[in-house]
Amino acid sequence: MMDTKLVRDFTKLCSDGYVCGWHERNGGNLSYRMKEEEVEEVRDFFNEDAQWREIGTTVPDLKNEYFMMTGSGKYFRNVELDFEDNVAIIQVNEDGSKYKIVYGLVNGGRPTSELPTHLMNLEVLKQRDPEMRVVYHCHPANTIALTFLLPCDDQIFTREIWEMMTECPIIFPKGIGTVEWMVPGGREIAVKTCEIMKTKDVAVWFHHGMFACGHTFDEAFGLMHAVEKAAEILLKVMSVSDRKLQTITPEGFREIEPAFGIKLDESCLYERKDGRIGKK
Ligand code: 13P
Ligand code: ZN
Repeated sequence: MMDTKLVRDFTKLCSDGYVCGWHERNGGNLSYRMKEEEVEEVRDFFNEDAQWREIGTTVPDLKNEYFMMTGSGKYFRNVELDFEDNVAIIQVNEDGSKYKIVYGLVNGGRPTSELPTHLMNLEVLKQRDPEMRVVYHCHPANTIALTFLLPCDDQIFTREIWEMMTECPIIFPKGIGTVEWMVPGGREIAVKTCEIMKTKDVAVWFHHGMFACGHTFDEAFGLMHAVEKAAEILLKVMSVSDRKLQTITPEGFREIEPAFGIKLDESCLYERKDGRIGKK
C-alpha cells in the first residue's frame, strides 16, 4: 500500500499543506475518488466485511465507488508519519446513501466530518468532468482574514483576488464562490458548496476556510496556493491603503482571454464606480 503512487501523492499534499500553515490541529480534510486500476492495485488490503454507515446525504452517481480520505479529528502533520492511523479508504453503497471503511483508521474513528461536502462535491465534479477526482479543504490565514474585510459576494471576491496576480484569472477563469458563515459538517453547507462547484473550482467558506478541486493533487494544491498567495498580497495592500494607485483593468482582463484561450466570468469584470477596495 505504502509503495503506491496514490499514497505518495496523497501524503505529499498533506505534508505540503501542513508546511504552508494551513492545517492547525485537525484543521482541513482531503478526499480522492479512486480510479478502477488504483482500487485493484490495493484491493488485497481491504476488509470488505466492514459495517455500512449513513453518509448523511445521498450521492447516487458515486454508487459502489471507492474514496481515499482523511479521518475526522486527524492531524495533516501525522499523515506522513502514520498513514493507516489517519487516512481511510471508504466504499459508497449501491444506492449512494451509506459508506463502509474498507481500509485504514486502524485505531478507530470515522472519515472527515465534512464527508457530505466532499462526496457531494465529488459527485458534482464527476458530472462536470469524469477525471475531476480531488477535493481539498484547508484553513489558510490570509483568505480567512479577507472574509472579515470583503463582502460575501462572488463577483467582488473574485475580482479583488484576480487583480492581485496576473496568473490568477488564467488559473481560475470561472472565479471564486463565496459561502456565508454556516455551521460546518452538515448537508446544508454541502449543498451551498456544490452549487459553486457546478461551475467553479474554488469555494471560500466565510470565517472558516477554503475548498479547491482538481484532476490531480498537484492541481488542487496549486489552485489553493495561488488563491492564498493572492489573498496575502491583497491584505498587504489593504494594510497600507483602502484604494489602489493602479491595477489591471477590465479591458486588460479581456485581452488575457485570446492570449491564453480562456473565457473569464464576465460578471466579475464590472466597471468600478467606487475606488475603494471591496466596493463595486
Ligand atoms: P475533520 O477533522 O472532521 O476533518 O474536521 C476538520 C475541519 O476542518 C472541519 O471543517
Ligand atoms: Zn474546516
